[in-house]
This record gives sequence, C-alpha cells and structure tokens, in this order.
Amino acid sequence: MITLFSNGDFELANLVRVKISALGTYVPPRLLTNFDLEKMVETSNDWIMERTGIRQRHIVDKGMATSDLAVEAAQNALKERGIPATDIQAIFVGTVTPDMFFPATACLVQDKIGAKGAWGYDISAACSGFVYSLQTAVKFVESGAHQRVLAIGADVMTSIINYEDRATCVIFGDGAGAVVVEPATDDNYMIDFLHEIDGSGACSLYMPGGGSRNPSSHETVDKKMHYVHQDGQAVFKYAVRKMAEASESILKRNGFSGKDVDLFVPHQANRRIIMSAADRLGLPEDRIIINIDEFGNTTAGTIPLAMESARHQGRLKKGDLVLIASVGAGFTVGATLFRWAC
Ligand code: UT7
Repeated sequence: MITLFSNGDFELANLVRVKISALGTYVPPRLLTNFDLEKMVETSNDWIMERTGIRQRHIVDKGMATSDLAVEAAQNALKERGIPATDIQAIFVGTVTPDMFFPATACLVQDKIGAKGAWGYDISAACSGFVYSLQTAVKFVESGAHQRVLAIGADVMTSIINYEDRATCVIFGDGAGAVVVEPATDDNYMIDFLHEIDGSGACSLYMPGGGSRNPSSHETVDKKMHYVHQDGQAVFKYAVRKMAEASESILKRNGFSGKDVDLFVPHQANRRIIMSAADRLGLPEDRIIINIDEFGNTTAGTIPLAMESARHQGRLKKGDLVLIASVGAGFTVGATLFRWAC
C-alpha cells in the first residue's frame, strides 16, 4: 500500500522483509593455471600474481554453456533449501554470456530445473549482474508479489575471450552462483541496495561485435569484434573509486560505518582493486573475502562464489552484517547491505 502525504512524500506500507534463504554455486572442474597461460601468451605467473592476485581459473569444456553452470548452481541452492523447483515463482539471471541472444538464459534454466509455472528474464549488468538480479528478486518478494524467487549470476567468460590478448585472457574464468530469496522470519534481512549506471564508460569495457551496431559477419570475426575489449587502467581507476564510494554511501545512509561490517564481499576483478576499496573503508583483511586466486574474475559469478568461499572458511555466520560491492562494464555499480540469514 502507498500512503501519499500533502507535501508530496510517500511511504510504502506493508512491505515484506526479505532474506537470502539458500546459496548454491558451481564451477566447471577444468583448471587453467598461470603456468598454462605462460605457454599460450607472453606472460608469467609472477606478473599475473603481482598485478591481479589470480593463480588459476576454472573453465568450461567445449559445449558447456552458461545455462549449464546456472542450472547446477540453482539446483544446489534448491537442495540446500530443501524445496522443489516447482516452488520457485520467478528466475532472474545476471549474465553477459547467455547461451544465445534469445531465448533468455532464464527460460533455459526454468525448463532444465523444472520450475513449472515460473517466469523470469536475463539482466545484462556484467560484473554487477548478480547484485542487480538479487535486487530484482528481493523487490518481487518485498512487494508481496512472490514468495520464492531465484537470483542467479552466471558467466562463461572464456566464450568471449581472445587468448592472444594477454591483457584480458589472464583475468577471466567461468562460474555461477544462485540464491533463493523469500520472506524473512527474523531480524536477518536485506537492508538496502544502492545501484548506479554510467554509460559514459561504455567504451572502456565492451564487446563490439554481434549486436545490432555490428551484426556478425566475416569482417567482425576478422577484426576480433566478438571478444572482450578493455581499457584496463580506466576500468581499474573507476572500480577503485566507485566500489568505495557506493559502499560508503550505503553504509552511511543506513547508520553504519566500515567498522560495523562483519564481511565485505567485493566483486573479484583484481586483488589490488579490492584492497584499495577496503583500505578506504577502513576494513582489515580478516573482514574481506578474496578468492580471486582460485577462480579469477567470473563476472556475474564472483559474488555468490565469494559468499560460498566465506561460508566454507567459517567466516559467514547467521546475523553477520554483509556488504557487497561491484563495478562492471557499462559502467554498472552495485552495493548491497544485509544480515546473513542462513
Ligand atoms: O570486472 C571488471 C573487469 N575488468 C577489470 O576489472 C580490469 C581492471 N584493470 C586491471 O585489473 C588491470 O588494469 C590489468 C590487470 C588489466 C592490467 O594491469 P596494469 O597493472 O594496469 O597493467 P598495464 O595495462 O598498465 O600494463 C603494464 C605493462 C604493459 O607493458 P609495457 O607497455 O609497460 O611494456 C603491458 O603490456 O604490463 C603489460 N602486460 C602484461 N605483461 C605480462 C599487460 N598484460 C600482461 C600480462 N603479462 N598478462
């Protein structure tokens, strides 16, 4: 219900508080190490470790696509929650590497997991894809429209990487994560989201070929337009500034500061970006989760994979105040604050 006041303000009443009730992740078993990359391009384990913090990435075998990873992650989340797929009313998939332009990966996931009766769509927000899917899922439950929704972040970045370009091929890996979102039953719930897009950064990180601007042709293939193009330093500078700014803003407007955060779950793009942002927030290393060494940058997969790593290490407990921050192609910026509920 919306209450309108005479001064133009309004208040939303009867909103349901919402929680993440289960988490599932999946990475393909095959590994691509820095030493493997040394044999493919002019690079070194030392350079990659020092400049990015990445040691290895999981990559798909030929024939495996984003929906395959998303399905595994979704099934793991449903198993953890102990509910059948038919209980899910909507599915939102953050991805920039859909199986194909259409139908949406959400449709493929819906069919493969057997979520009969569910609806959904894909969200293109690159590295902020999971956070944007999460907010979408939360809003549908918060409004009372749905009871159980799946938010997924999944990417097969290796499908759009040029393995002759050492500046991009060392960064990315493949992976997926999914959460079940439903009404909260106690004080552990989603507190706030703060999102922003800035299209002036579109030319800093993009894939030029295959869309309506440059439809696929022999020429687009010859010009390597179906690969990730990146101005690494521009993305780096923007990410450091905006991850910290968005985090500071969301904490401040909810009456918190960096010292209240039990776990900072940043998008895993580069260890140096994470440490710079954390430094600005005054967060010590024992309250930051970094697993980029193991998975690289899996784009929409990084945040659920990082939450899973934290849980695995016993660093994510019920009631913990969790801060998520992401920056991705677009540019897209995302920050989320919540208390861990499962
Ligand atoms: O999720 C969002 C996705 N993207 C990002 O977050 C990317 C953000 N940017 C970055 O992480 C960093 O900018 C990179 C890791 C991409 C690059 O690191 P950098 O420290 O900014 O390197 P640079 O681009 O300034 O290049 C320094 C040198 C260059 O050589 P010269 O011109 O100084 O001779 C590069 O050619 O390092 C060279 N270089 C490499 N050398 C060995 C670039 N990539 C490599 C490599 N191995 N893989």
